Amino acid sequence: PTPDGTAPADAAPETVLIDGIGVLATNDPALGEGATGAVADAALVIEGGTVAWAGPSSRAPAADARVDAGGRCVVPGFVDSHSHIVFAGDRGKEFGARMSGRPYEAGGIRTTVAATRAASDSELLDKATRLLNEARAQGTTTLEIKSGYGLSTADEERALRVAGRLTEETTYLGAHIVPPEYADDPQGYVDLVTGEMLDACAPHARWIDVFCERGAFDEEASRRILKAGMDRGLLARVHGNQLGPGPGARLAAELGAASVDHCTYLEPGDVEALASSDTVATLLPGVDFSTRQPYPDARALIDAGATVALASDCNPGSCFTSSLAFCIALAVREMRMTPEEALWAATAGGARALRRTDVGHLAPGARADLVVLEAPDPVYLAYRPGVPMTAAVWREGRPVA
Ligand code: NIG
Ligand code: FE
Repeated sequence: PTPDGTAPADAAPETVLIDGIGVLATNDPALGEGATGAVADAALVIEGGTVAWAGPSSRAPAADARVDAGGRCVVPGFVDSHSHIVFAGDRGKEFGARMSGRPYEAGGIRTTVAATRAASDSELLDKATRLLNEARAQGTTTLEIKSGYGLSTADEERALRVAGRLTEETTYLGAHIVPPEYADDPQGYVDLVTGEMLDACAPHARWIDVFCERGAFDEEASRRILKAGMDRGLLARVHGNQLGPGPGARLAAELGAASVDHCTYLEPGDVEALASSDTVATLLPGVDFSTRQPYPDARALIDAGATVALASDCNPGSCFTSSLAFCIALAVREMRMTPEEALWAATAGGARALRRTDVGHLAPGARADLVVLEAPDPVYLAYRPGVPMTAAVWREGRPVA
Protein backbone atom coordinates (compact mmCIF):
# COMPACT_ATOMS: atom_id res chain seq x y z
CA PRO A 1 0.00 0.00 0.00
CA THR A 2 1.00 3.61 -0.53
CA PRO A 3 1.50 5.83 2.56
CA ASP A 4 -2.14 6.95 2.52
CA GLY A 5 -3.25 3.29 2.61
CA THR A 6 -4.59 2.99 -0.97
CA ALA A 7 -3.23 0.34 -3.31
CA PRO A 8 -0.71 1.63 -5.84
CA ALA A 9 -2.22 2.04 -9.28
CA ASP A 10 0.15 -0.50 -10.79
CA ALA A 11 -0.48 -3.20 -8.13
CA ALA A 12 -0.78 -6.69 -9.60
CA PRO A 13 -4.44 -7.74 -9.61
CA GLU A 14 -5.50 -10.56 -7.33
CA THR A 15 -5.41 -13.99 -8.92
CA VAL A 16 -8.21 -16.53 -8.43
CA LEU A 17 -7.83 -20.26 -9.00
CA ILE A 18 -11.00 -22.16 -9.89
CA ASP A 19 -10.24 -25.84 -9.50
CA GLY A 20 -12.17 -29.07 -9.03
CA ILE A 21 -13.62 -28.54 -12.54
CA GLY A 22 -14.96 -31.91 -13.79
CA VAL A 23 -14.68 -30.87 -17.45
CA LEU A 24 -13.49 -27.50 -18.74
CA ALA A 25 -14.52 -26.54 -22.29
CA THR A 26 -11.88 -24.05 -23.42
CA ASN A 27 -12.83 -23.94 -27.15
CA ASP A 28 -9.10 -24.11 -27.82
CA PRO A 29 -8.15 -27.40 -29.52
CA ALA A 30 -4.51 -26.81 -28.46
CA LEU A 31 -5.52 -27.01 -24.79
CA GLY A 32 -7.77 -30.06 -24.81
CA GLU A 33 -9.79 -32.56 -26.78
CA GLY A 34 -11.97 -31.91 -29.81
CA ALA A 35 -13.37 -28.63 -31.09
CA THR A 36 -14.34 -27.53 -27.56
CA GLY A 37 -10.80 -28.14 -26.27
CA ALA A 38 -12.18 -30.15 -23.34
CA VAL A 39 -9.90 -30.76 -20.33
CA ALA A 40 -10.92 -33.28 -17.61
CA ASP A 41 -10.09 -32.59 -13.91
CA ALA A 42 -9.24 -29.04 -14.84
CA ALA A 43 -8.43 -25.70 -13.27
CA LEU A 44 -8.49 -22.10 -14.42
CA VAL A 45 -6.61 -19.07 -13.12
CA ILE A 46 -8.16 -15.64 -13.49
CA GLU A 47 -6.14 -12.46 -13.13
CA GLY A 48 -8.12 -9.25 -13.16
CA GLY A 49 -10.82 -9.77 -15.75
CA THR A 50 -8.81 -12.17 -17.85
CA VAL A 51 -7.97 -15.88 -18.04
CA ALA A 52 -4.31 -16.24 -17.06
CA TRP A 53 -4.01 -20.03 -17.20
CA ALA A 54 -6.17 -23.08 -18.11
CA GLY A 55 -5.28 -26.76 -17.94
CA PRO A 56 -5.20 -29.91 -15.81
CA SER A 57 -5.62 -29.33 -12.06
CA SER A 58 -2.40 -31.23 -11.32
CA ARG A 59 -0.38 -28.53 -13.09
CA ALA A 60 -2.23 -25.44 -11.86
CA PRO A 61 -0.09 -22.57 -10.59
CA ALA A 62 -0.71 -21.06 -7.15
CA ALA A 63 -3.09 -18.11 -6.80
CA ASP A 64 -4.19 -15.60 -4.14
CA ALA A 65 -7.66 -17.12 -3.77
CA ARG A 66 -9.23 -20.49 -4.56
CA VAL A 67 -12.76 -21.52 -5.58
CA ASP A 68 -13.76 -25.20 -5.70
CA ALA A 69 -16.10 -26.09 -8.60
CA GLY A 70 -16.94 -29.38 -6.84
CA GLY A 71 -16.64 -31.50 -9.98
CA ARG A 72 -19.05 -29.32 -11.99
CA CYS A 73 -18.17 -28.48 -15.56
CA VAL A 74 -17.24 -25.02 -16.80
CA VAL A 75 -17.95 -23.63 -20.27
CA PRO A 76 -17.29 -20.21 -21.84
CA GLY A 77 -20.06 -17.66 -21.23
CA PHE A 78 -22.61 -17.78 -24.04
CA VAL A 79 -22.19 -15.17 -26.77
CA ASP A 80 -25.69 -14.33 -27.97
CA SER A 81 -25.11 -12.43 -31.20
CA HIS A 82 -28.76 -11.63 -32.01
CA SER A 83 -31.47 -10.06 -29.86
CA HIS A 84 -34.20 -7.43 -30.03
CA ILE A 85 -34.79 -6.72 -26.34
CA VAL A 86 -35.53 -2.99 -26.54
CA PHE A 87 -39.31 -2.99 -26.92
CA ALA A 88 -42.60 -2.46 -25.12
CA GLY A 89 -45.95 -4.23 -25.37
CA ASP A 90 -46.97 -7.86 -25.39
CA ARG A 91 -47.65 -10.37 -28.16
CA GLY A 92 -48.60 -13.42 -26.12
CA LYS A 93 -52.01 -13.51 -27.81
CA GLU A 94 -50.38 -13.47 -31.26
CA PHE A 95 -48.30 -16.49 -30.22
CA GLY A 96 -51.42 -18.24 -28.96
CA ALA A 97 -53.20 -17.57 -32.25
CA ARG A 98 -50.20 -18.89 -34.18
CA MET A 99 -50.20 -22.08 -32.17
CA SER A 100 -53.88 -22.36 -33.05
CA GLY A 101 -53.09 -22.30 -36.75
CA ARG A 102 -52.37 -18.73 -37.91
CA PRO A 103 -49.12 -18.26 -39.85
CA TYR A 104 -46.23 -16.09 -38.62
CA GLU A 105 -46.02 -12.84 -40.58
CA ALA A 106 -43.43 -10.09 -40.40
CA GLY A 107 -46.36 -7.64 -40.04
CA GLY A 108 -46.74 -8.51 -36.35
CA ILE A 109 -43.71 -6.28 -35.83
CA ARG A 110 -46.03 -3.26 -36.28
CA THR A 111 -47.81 -4.07 -33.00
CA THR A 112 -44.52 -3.81 -31.12
CA VAL A 113 -43.54 -0.63 -32.99
CA ALA A 114 -46.72 1.12 -31.82
CA ALA A 115 -46.19 0.06 -28.18
CA THR A 116 -42.49 0.94 -28.25
CA ARG A 117 -43.11 4.42 -29.64
CA ALA A 118 -45.65 5.02 -26.84
CA ALA A 119 -43.31 3.89 -24.05
CA SER A 120 -41.12 6.18 -21.93
CA ASP A 121 -37.32 5.98 -22.04
CA SER A 122 -37.19 4.58 -18.52
CA GLU A 123 -39.79 1.91 -19.31
CA LEU A 124 -37.73 0.75 -22.30
CA LEU A 125 -34.51 0.68 -20.28
CA ASP A 126 -36.18 -1.11 -17.39
CA LYS A 127 -37.66 -3.85 -19.60
CA ALA A 128 -34.44 -4.35 -21.54
CA THR A 129 -32.41 -4.51 -18.32
CA ARG A 130 -34.69 -7.23 -16.97
CA LEU A 131 -34.25 -9.29 -20.12
CA LEU A 132 -30.48 -8.78 -20.06
CA ASN A 133 -30.38 -9.98 -16.45
CA GLU A 134 -32.61 -12.92 -17.34
CA ALA A 135 -30.18 -13.89 -20.12
CA ARG A 136 -27.18 -13.40 -17.87
CA ALA A 137 -28.62 -15.66 -15.17
CA GLN A 138 -28.79 -18.36 -17.84
CA GLY A 139 -25.17 -17.96 -18.85
CA THR A 140 -25.14 -15.24 -21.51
CA THR A 141 -22.16 -12.95 -20.91
CA THR A 142 -22.12 -11.11 -24.26
CA LEU A 143 -25.38 -9.96 -25.85
CA GLU A 144 -25.93 -8.10 -29.10
CA ILE A 145 -28.96 -5.79 -29.00
CA LYS A 146 -30.75 -4.31 -32.03
CA SER A 147 -32.98 -1.32 -32.52
CA GLY A 148 -35.83 -1.86 -34.98
CA TYR A 149 -39.06 -1.24 -33.07
CA GLY A 150 -38.84 2.55 -33.31
CA LEU A 151 -38.66 3.09 -37.08
CA SER A 152 -38.55 6.88 -36.80
CA THR A 153 -35.34 8.85 -36.44
CA ALA A 154 -36.00 9.78 -32.82
CA ASP A 155 -37.29 6.34 -31.79
CA GLU A 156 -34.45 4.42 -33.43
CA GLU A 157 -31.84 6.70 -31.88
CA ARG A 158 -33.52 6.30 -28.50
CA ALA A 159 -33.53 2.50 -28.81
CA LEU A 160 -29.80 2.54 -29.57
CA ARG A 161 -29.10 4.78 -26.59
CA VAL A 162 -30.93 2.27 -24.38
CA ALA A 163 -29.07 -0.64 -25.98
CA GLY A 164 -25.77 1.19 -25.47
CA ARG A 165 -26.42 1.31 -21.72
CA LEU A 166 -26.44 -2.50 -21.70
CA THR A 167 -23.93 -3.69 -24.31
CA GLU A 168 -21.15 -2.59 -26.64
CA GLU A 169 -22.71 -4.77 -29.38
CA THR A 170 -25.36 -2.34 -30.61
CA THR A 171 -27.05 -2.78 -33.98
CA TYR A 172 -28.96 -0.23 -36.03
CA LEU A 173 -31.99 -2.00 -37.57
CA GLY A 174 -34.00 0.94 -38.91
CA ALA A 175 -34.62 -1.39 -41.86
CA HIS A 176 -36.71 -3.88 -39.90
CA ILE A 177 -39.96 -3.21 -41.78
CA VAL A 178 -41.45 -0.21 -43.56
CA PRO A 179 -43.53 1.56 -40.89
CA PRO A 180 -47.23 2.25 -41.57
CA GLU A 181 -46.74 5.98 -42.27
CA TYR A 182 -44.49 5.06 -45.23
CA ALA A 183 -46.76 2.28 -46.57
CA ASP A 184 -47.33 4.25 -49.79
CA ASP A 185 -43.72 5.40 -50.08
CA PRO A 186 -41.35 2.54 -49.24
CA GLN A 187 -38.60 4.21 -51.28
CA GLY A 188 -38.97 7.30 -49.10
CA TYR A 189 -38.43 5.12 -46.05
CA VAL A 190 -35.21 3.69 -47.50
CA ASP A 191 -34.09 7.30 -48.10
CA LEU A 192 -34.78 8.06 -44.43
CA VAL A 193 -32.99 4.92 -43.18
CA THR A 194 -29.91 5.75 -45.28
CA GLY A 195 -30.08 9.49 -44.61
CA GLU A 196 -31.27 11.38 -41.56
CA MET A 197 -31.92 8.26 -39.48
CA LEU A 198 -28.46 6.87 -40.22
CA ASP A 199 -26.91 10.22 -39.26
CA ALA A 200 -28.66 10.08 -35.89
CA CYS A 201 -28.04 6.39 -35.23
CA ALA A 202 -24.52 5.71 -36.53
CA PRO A 203 -22.80 7.33 -33.51
CA HIS A 204 -24.63 4.90 -31.19
CA ALA A 205 -24.18 1.68 -33.17
CA ARG A 206 -21.41 -0.77 -34.02
CA TRP A 207 -23.46 -2.71 -36.59
CA ILE A 208 -26.02 -2.16 -39.33
CA ASP A 209 -28.61 -4.84 -40.06
CA VAL A 210 -31.47 -5.23 -42.55
CA PHE A 211 -34.44 -7.60 -42.69
CA CYS A 212 -33.93 -8.86 -46.26
CA GLU A 213 -37.14 -10.80 -46.80
CA ARG A 214 -40.36 -10.70 -48.81
CA GLY A 215 -42.64 -8.25 -46.98
CA ALA A 216 -39.65 -6.30 -45.61
CA PHE A 217 -36.73 -5.14 -47.83
CA ASP A 218 -35.77 -6.59 -51.23
CA GLU A 219 -32.25 -7.26 -52.44
CA GLU A 220 -31.70 -3.86 -54.01
CA ALA A 221 -32.95 -1.89 -51.00
CA SER A 222 -31.01 -4.17 -48.62
CA ARG A 223 -27.76 -3.67 -50.55
CA ARG A 224 -28.27 0.10 -50.56
CA ILE A 225 -29.00 0.20 -46.82
CA LEU A 226 -26.05 -1.99 -45.84
CA LYS A 227 -23.65 -0.07 -48.07
CA ALA A 228 -24.79 3.26 -46.64
CA GLY A 229 -24.08 1.97 -43.14
CA MET A 230 -20.72 0.51 -44.13
CA ASP A 231 -19.75 3.85 -45.68
CA ARG A 232 -20.33 5.35 -42.24
CA GLY A 233 -18.04 2.80 -40.59
CA LEU A 234 -20.73 0.40 -39.35
CA LEU A 235 -20.16 -3.34 -39.79
CA ALA A 236 -22.80 -5.33 -41.65
CA ARG A 237 -25.04 -8.20 -40.56
CA VAL A 238 -28.21 -9.44 -42.25
CA HIS A 239 -31.55 -11.06 -41.42
CA GLY A 240 -32.13 -13.41 -44.33
CA ASN A 241 -33.79 -16.59 -45.60
CA GLN A 242 -36.17 -16.76 -42.63
CA LEU A 243 -39.60 -17.09 -44.24
CA GLY A 244 -38.58 -18.45 -47.63
CA PRO A 245 -35.68 -18.71 -50.06
CA GLY A 246 -34.20 -15.31 -50.90
CA PRO A 247 -31.13 -13.21 -51.60
CA GLY A 248 -30.09 -12.50 -47.95
CA ALA A 249 -27.36 -15.11 -47.53
CA ARG A 250 -25.72 -14.39 -50.89
CA LEU A 251 -25.89 -10.64 -50.32
CA ALA A 252 -24.28 -11.04 -46.88
CA ALA A 253 -21.42 -13.05 -48.39
CA GLU A 254 -21.04 -10.58 -51.28
CA LEU A 255 -20.72 -7.60 -48.93
CA GLY A 256 -18.48 -9.40 -46.43
CA ALA A 257 -21.08 -9.13 -43.69
CA ALA A 258 -20.05 -10.71 -40.37
CA SER A 259 -23.17 -12.87 -40.28
CA VAL A 260 -26.43 -13.79 -41.95
CA ASP A 261 -29.03 -14.80 -39.43
CA HIS A 262 -31.95 -17.28 -39.63
CA CYS A 263 -30.84 -19.29 -42.75
CA THR A 264 -33.95 -21.46 -42.46
CA TYR A 265 -34.43 -21.63 -46.24
CA LEU A 266 -31.04 -21.99 -47.93
CA GLU A 267 -30.45 -23.30 -51.44
CA PRO A 268 -27.24 -25.18 -52.34
CA GLY A 269 -25.76 -22.00 -53.90
CA ASP A 270 -26.33 -20.13 -50.62
CA VAL A 271 -24.50 -22.81 -48.64
CA GLU A 272 -21.58 -22.65 -51.09
CA ALA A 273 -21.48 -18.84 -50.93
CA LEU A 274 -21.34 -18.95 -47.11
CA ALA A 275 -18.77 -21.77 -47.02
CA SER A 276 -16.42 -19.82 -49.28
CA SER A 277 -16.78 -16.56 -47.32
CA ASP A 278 -16.04 -15.27 -43.81
CA THR A 279 -19.75 -14.70 -43.23
CA VAL A 280 -21.05 -16.75 -40.31
CA ALA A 281 -24.39 -18.57 -40.67
CA THR A 282 -26.19 -17.74 -37.43
CA LEU A 283 -29.02 -20.16 -36.77
CA LEU A 284 -31.91 -19.18 -34.51
CA PRO A 285 -33.73 -22.44 -33.75
CA GLY A 286 -35.90 -20.80 -31.09
CA VAL A 287 -37.57 -18.85 -33.92
CA ASP A 288 -38.28 -21.95 -35.96
CA PHE A 289 -39.63 -23.61 -32.81
CA SER A 290 -41.87 -20.64 -31.93
CA THR A 291 -43.15 -20.10 -35.47
CA ARG A 292 -43.59 -23.81 -36.32
CA GLN A 293 -41.18 -23.63 -39.21
CA PRO A 294 -38.72 -26.26 -40.38
CA TYR A 295 -35.26 -26.03 -38.80
CA PRO A 296 -32.23 -24.87 -40.80
CA ASP A 297 -29.97 -27.51 -42.30
CA ALA A 298 -27.05 -27.09 -39.93
CA ARG A 299 -25.39 -30.28 -41.17
CA ALA A 300 -25.24 -29.04 -44.76
CA LEU A 301 -23.61 -25.81 -43.58
CA ILE A 302 -21.09 -27.45 -41.26
CA ASP A 303 -20.25 -30.24 -43.68
CA ALA A 304 -19.66 -27.66 -46.45
CA GLY A 305 -17.22 -25.82 -44.19
CA ALA A 306 -19.34 -22.79 -43.21
CA THR A 307 -19.01 -21.34 -39.70
CA VAL A 308 -22.22 -21.81 -37.71
CA ALA A 309 -23.32 -19.79 -34.69
CA LEU A 310 -26.39 -20.24 -32.49
CA ALA A 311 -28.24 -17.23 -31.08
CA SER A 312 -31.56 -16.60 -29.35
CA ASP A 313 -33.15 -13.79 -31.44
CA CYS A 314 -34.94 -12.90 -28.19
CA ASN A 315 -37.87 -10.71 -29.31
CA PRO A 316 -41.58 -10.43 -28.50
CA GLY A 317 -42.81 -11.81 -31.85
CA SER A 318 -40.95 -14.67 -33.45
CA CYS A 319 -39.13 -16.05 -30.38
CA PHE A 320 -39.42 -14.89 -26.80
CA THR A 321 -36.66 -16.93 -25.22
CA SER A 322 -33.40 -15.62 -23.78
CA SER A 323 -32.07 -19.12 -23.14
CA LEU A 324 -29.10 -20.26 -25.19
CA ALA A 325 -29.24 -23.58 -23.34
CA PHE A 326 -32.67 -24.10 -24.93
CA CYS A 327 -31.26 -23.19 -28.36
CA ILE A 328 -28.43 -25.69 -27.84
CA ALA A 329 -30.94 -28.42 -26.93
CA LEU A 330 -32.97 -27.66 -30.10
CA ALA A 331 -29.84 -27.63 -32.27
CA VAL A 332 -28.77 -31.01 -30.96
CA ARG A 333 -32.16 -32.70 -31.03
CA GLU A 334 -33.70 -31.08 -34.11
CA MET A 335 -30.76 -29.99 -36.26
CA ARG A 336 -28.41 -32.93 -35.76
CA MET A 337 -25.58 -30.78 -34.45
CA THR A 338 -23.36 -32.74 -32.07
CA PRO A 339 -23.41 -31.49 -28.45
CA GLU A 340 -19.84 -30.20 -28.96
CA GLU A 341 -20.77 -28.38 -32.20
CA ALA A 342 -23.77 -26.76 -30.53
CA LEU A 343 -21.78 -25.58 -27.49
CA TRP A 344 -19.06 -24.20 -29.77
CA ALA A 345 -21.67 -22.43 -31.94
CA ALA A 346 -23.28 -20.72 -28.91
CA THR A 347 -19.92 -19.49 -27.61
CA ALA A 348 -17.03 -19.30 -30.12
CA GLY A 349 -19.48 -19.18 -33.05
CA GLY A 350 -21.29 -16.19 -31.56
CA ALA A 351 -17.95 -14.49 -31.02
CA ARG A 352 -17.06 -15.01 -34.70
CA ALA A 353 -20.43 -13.60 -35.69
CA LEU A 354 -19.58 -10.49 -33.67
CA ARG A 355 -15.94 -10.46 -34.90
CA ARG A 356 -14.73 -10.77 -31.31
CA THR A 357 -11.58 -12.63 -30.30
CA ASP A 358 -11.72 -11.81 -26.57
CA VAL A 359 -14.88 -13.79 -25.74
CA GLY A 360 -16.31 -17.23 -26.59
CA HIS A 361 -13.28 -19.19 -25.39
CA LEU A 362 -11.27 -19.70 -22.19
CA ALA A 363 -7.67 -19.77 -23.37
CA PRO A 364 -5.15 -17.50 -21.62
CA GLY A 365 -5.79 -13.90 -22.61
CA ALA A 366 -9.56 -14.36 -23.05
CA ARG A 367 -12.01 -12.31 -21.04
CA ALA A 368 -12.88 -14.39 -17.96
CA ASP A 369 -16.54 -14.98 -18.89
CA LEU A 370 -17.70 -18.43 -17.86
CA VAL A 371 -20.59 -20.57 -16.76
CA VAL A 372 -20.32 -23.16 -14.01
CA LEU A 373 -22.95 -25.74 -14.93
CA GLU A 374 -24.86 -27.75 -12.34
CA ALA A 375 -23.68 -30.81 -14.26
CA PRO A 376 -20.65 -33.05 -14.64
CA ASP A 377 -20.41 -32.56 -18.42
CA PRO A 378 -21.53 -29.93 -21.00
CA VAL A 379 -23.66 -32.57 -22.74
CA TYR A 380 -26.20 -31.92 -19.95
CA LEU A 381 -27.15 -28.65 -21.69
CA ALA A 382 -28.95 -30.76 -24.30
CA TYR A 383 -29.48 -33.87 -22.15
CA ARG A 384 -31.59 -31.99 -19.55
CA PRO A 385 -33.68 -29.61 -21.69
CA GLY A 386 -35.76 -27.03 -19.84
CA VAL A 387 -33.90 -27.53 -16.56
CA PRO A 388 -31.94 -24.57 -15.13
CA MET A 389 -28.31 -25.61 -15.44
CA THR A 390 -26.34 -22.58 -14.22
CA ALA A 391 -24.66 -22.91 -10.83
CA ALA A 392 -22.75 -19.64 -11.33
CA VAL A 393 -21.97 -17.12 -14.06
CA TRP A 394 -18.73 -15.11 -14.08
CA ARG A 395 -18.15 -12.09 -16.27
CA GLU A 396 -14.85 -10.23 -16.55
CA GLY A 397 -13.47 -12.34 -13.72
CA ARG A 398 -16.27 -11.76 -11.24
CA PRO A 399 -19.41 -13.72 -10.31
CA VAL A 400 -22.48 -11.92 -11.71
CA ALA A 401 -25.16 -14.59 -11.19
O1 NIG B 1 -35.58 -11.85 -36.16
N1 NIG B 1 -37.07 -11.27 -38.66
C1 NIG B 1 -37.30 -10.16 -38.27
N2 NIG B 1 -37.34 -9.75 -37.02
C2 NIG B 1 -37.51 -10.56 -35.89
C3 NIG B 1 -38.94 -10.75 -35.53
C4 NIG B 1 -39.46 -9.57 -34.91
C5 NIG B 1 -40.91 -9.66 -34.49
O2 NIG B 1 -41.69 -10.55 -34.89
O3 NIG B 1 -41.25 -8.77 -33.71
C6 NIG B 1 -36.80 -11.87 -36.08
O4 NIG B 1 -37.43 -12.94 -36.14
FE1 FE C 1 -34.03 -10.97 -35.44
